[in-house]
Parts: sequence; structure tokens; C-alpha cells
Amino acid sequence: MDDKYYTLAEGCPFASNKTAVMMRGGRGGQGGGLGLLQDTQLIETLAHFSRERIPERVVHAKAVGCYGEFEATRDCSDFTSASFLNKTGKKTPVLQRVSTVGAESGSADTARDVHGWAMKLYTDEGNLDWVFNNTPVFFIRDPIKFPSMNRSHKRHPQTHLPDQTMFWDFHVGNPEGIHQLMVLFSDRGTPKSVRFMNSYSGHTYKFTKADGSFKYAKIHVKTQQGIQTFDRQEATKIAGENPDYMIQDMFEAIDRGDYPVWNVYVQLMSPEEAEKYEWNIFDMTKVWSHKDFPLQQIGRLTMNRNPQNYFTDIEQASFSPSTMVPGFAASADPVLQARLFAYPDAARYRLGVNYQQLPTNAAKVQVYCPFQRDGKMRFDDNYGGDPNYVGSSVKPTKFYQDLKGSDPGTLSLHTDHEKWAGEVSAYNSEITNRDFVQPAALWEVIGRVPGHQDRLIDNLASTVKDVKYPELRKNVYSLFSRVNKELGLKLQERTETSIKAV
Ligand code: HEM
Repeated sequence: MDDKYYTLAEGCPFASNKTAVMMRGGRGGQGGGLGLLQDTQLIETLAHFSRERIPERVVHAKAVGCYGEFEATRDCSDFTSASFLNKTGKKTPVLQRVSTVGAESGSADTARDVHGWAMKLYTDEGNLDWVFNNTPVFFIRDPIKFPSMNRSHKRHPQTHLPDQTMFWDFHVGNPEGIHQLMVLFSDRGTPKSVRFMNSYSGHTYKFTKADGSFKYAKIHVKTQQGIQTFDRQEATKIAGENPDYMIQDMFEAIDRGDYPVWNVYVQLMSPEEAEKYEWNIFDMTKVWSHKDFPLQQIGRLTMNRNPQNYFTDIEQASFSPSTMVPGFAASADPVLQARLFAYPDAARYRLGVNYQQLPTNAAKVQVYCPFQRDGKMRFDDNYGGDPNYVGSSVKPTKFYQDLKGSDPGTLSLHTDHEKWAGEVSAYNSEITNRDFVQPAALWEVIGRVPGHQDRLIDNLASTVKDVKYPELRKNVYSLFSRVNKELGLKLQERTETSIKAV
């Protein structure tokens, strides 16, 4: 045993485990007594316990997390000035958090849901967060719909139950999500574990260079363990038997040294190609053809270290698409633009205004940001007496480009590359027949795997049967008929038969 001993949080030695101090006597005898306000040990212990929980994330509350590394598999300086990609073999430490989306922190990992895939790359030019999903497309393209969409996937405001009527009512009324629904109700909607799934940026981002040029990019993270999925029945069974299945699978794999690996690819598109492309590249309900824009490998991701403490390493982690490094930038996808605001805002609410100082979020390079000071739970030296205003000649500090010698502005995260001129107007996310072209193609691809189309219909029917209103069910069948007539008909047949059978 070392010299360590228990203390209160301020250092006063903790007397013993059974020292609730009582005023004994009276009728209490040996067994009872009146508590005293002077019993600091008791009061501290109880008061801190009541404050152990912090707000859980409003979405993506349930997760598994770990650490690892990203290794650049090629020098990417032909399309980006990002330092972590400028040399073959360069390694960057990574924090990964993979989550379900809709349900609470205690919910089942194997529930049919999109899985979030957040990574913090602690690069030598500051942190880069890649906040992805395990699906390449999304339910909406107008960010104002995000809270509505998520509420319809959560609990009913009156019954407090998950509610299929609400779920399908949202999706019938906002049918631009049809592509994502096709993915979600396919086999990919119930992955076997984190190790056996891919993740995707979904959004178009930009890789930028110091000369002002840029390429649009989508990023793909592909499992080297192979895609593996549960069927609906297996997923439901495991949800009951072991709701933490994925957390356990990942923790134990890393613990026994069976480190999971993903290859990281990009699809690149020039601004000229984007102008002519048949799809709006700022619409995340669409993918880019791999034939036209082939995957190019840029790196490899290996996860090899479990958290030392779940709360400090994973729960206190905060990820945001706005956390970027020189050479990587946001595109004009309106959903992405809204996300740039939403995540730091959520972190300030959930963790406090100095969340960037928490060890798991802190950059591993020097941080000198004296224009962001004070605030609750500031726990560094707060830049001492350094000027807290810009433009000081008393104690000037260099800018990065003064050290690096590049042109001013080119290392900036702001997009000097694009010129925008236009009118302020409301965004129109109404659907057209074109929105069904990619889902229809996906239906054909699904058809190449024996039994997969049937499983998709079965997965859909198992939820549509719980929609209360026949008229709404009919609207669901019509929605899927627009993807493929046979799909719509079979879904109707399967659902209505199972309702009659009850
Ligand atoms: C308008 C669209 C969206 C909004 C407003 C939004 C907002 C949020 C918010 C508020 C959180 C909780 C953050 C926290 O408490 O720390 C969150 C988590 C997350 N979101 Fe989104 N989101 C949007 C779309 C997306 C999309 C398109 C993706 C994937 C491509 C995505 C991936 C994630 C992931 C992976 C997390 C969990 C991050 C973590 O592990 O801490 N979200 N989102």
C-alpha cells in the first residue's frame, strides 16, 4: 500500500467510512440520532452526489468511446495544406465517440438507428473534429427541420413512448429523407458493432491550399473488419439481453489487443465539376457516384486505447464540425452551416463556457487565445496580465503566418476562395421526382444481396404496422411506391396482413 489516504475535496483527511456524526441519545438510543450541519463529510458527500449528472446530449446520448491514431497513407499536399496530411506515414492521435442518435443514454446499442461517428484529430495545427454518421446521406436538407425530425424519433409528448405514428407522420410530411430511410431500414440500419461499420462525412467539405485553390470533398471511413450486421430479430433479442453490446464489444476488442482499423478515403471534385454536376453537392440527401469521383485513400485509422475514465474522456468530450484546421473548410451546405453554430452552443450549455480546457478537448499544441478569457470554471493561468484586447503594441504576439512565412490569409479558416452574390430568400426543400432517383438505384443495389429487399420490407412493415391511422399508412406506402412500385405494394401487403393477424 502507498501513502495515499482518503480526504475531503479540500484535503482534510476523511475520518472513516462510517462517520455520519449524530446527536445521540433520547429515544434514538444506539441506532439513531439527529444529523448535524457541522458534519461536513456527510454534507459534502450527499451534495456532490446530487450533482454528478451533467445534461446528457439532446441527441447522440448513448455512446462508446476510445482513443487511437490516424496515419496519413499519402502526401496530400496536391489538394490540401493540412499539415496532418502532408507526409506519408505521419501519425495524429485521435479520440473517437460512436453513438446512437434518438434514444437516451441508457438505451440499447442495437436499436435500429443512425449511428453518429465523431472523431477528434489532435493535429499539430490544432484540433480537427470530423463529426460524421454511419450513413452517407441525411433525413433533411433544411436545418430548421432538425429539432422536429429528432423529436419525431424520440418520445411522444403525452404518452412518453416512442411512437411510430409520429415517426412516419414526420417522414411523410418531409419526404426528402427517403434516401436515408432506405439506408436505415436496410441491413445497414442494425450494425453488428462499431468495428463492423463504415462512417461518412455525408456533407461536402473543402480541402484548401495555401494558393487559394480548393477541392470539394466527401470523406469515407471504411471498416477493415468487413461490414457485419444483425437482422431485426437478432438486434431486438440482444437489445433485451445486453443493451450495452457495442460498448462491451469495442472495449473488450481493444483490451485484448485486437485493434480495429478503418481506411480513410476522399472523393474530390473541382469547383468547375461541381457547377456541371447533375446533383446539388450542398444537398446531403445525395451521394456522388464513385465511378465519376473515385475513392482515393488518404489514411488509416486504428483505435488502440480504451478510455481511462468514461466521464472525463468520453462524456466530457465535445465535438463540432466548426473545429477545423488550416487546409480543411466548410462548404455552403445549409445543414453544415447550421451545425457550425449548434455544436459549440450545445457544448457551452452541456459543459460550460470553458469546455475547450477540459483535458479530453484540449489541443495538444500550444493554445494562445488571450481574447477569450475568464468565464465559469476557468482553471488555467488565464493568460495572466497579457493584453485582453486585439492590436496591442505593448505586448504584441506573432501570427502563425509570421512564423511560417506564407501569404497572410491563406492559412485562415475563413473561406477567401469563394465569391457569393445573391438574394436573401427562404430555403425551399420541396421534393421533386429527381429525389427518388438515387433511392431507386439503392433499391436495385440492395436487390443484389439475396433476401435483402425482403428484409428491408419486413423491417419497414414492423414499424408501419404501429401507425394508428390507415390514411397515414397509405401515405407511407405511396412514398415508397415512388422509389419502386413493387416496394410500395409489398410493403402495403406485408403491413396490412400483419395488422389483420393481430
Ligand atoms: C441541422 C443539422 C444538425 C444539428 C442542428 C445537429 C445538432 C447536434 C447537437 C446539438 C448535438 C449534441 C452535441 C452535444 O451536446 O455535445 C449533436 C450531436 C451529434 N451530431 Fe448532430 N446535428 C445535425 C446534423 C448532423 C449530421 C448531418 C451529422 C452527421 C453527418 C451529425 C452527427 C452528429 C454526431 C456524430 C453527434 C455526436 C457528437 C458526440 O459524440 O459528442 N449531426 N448534433
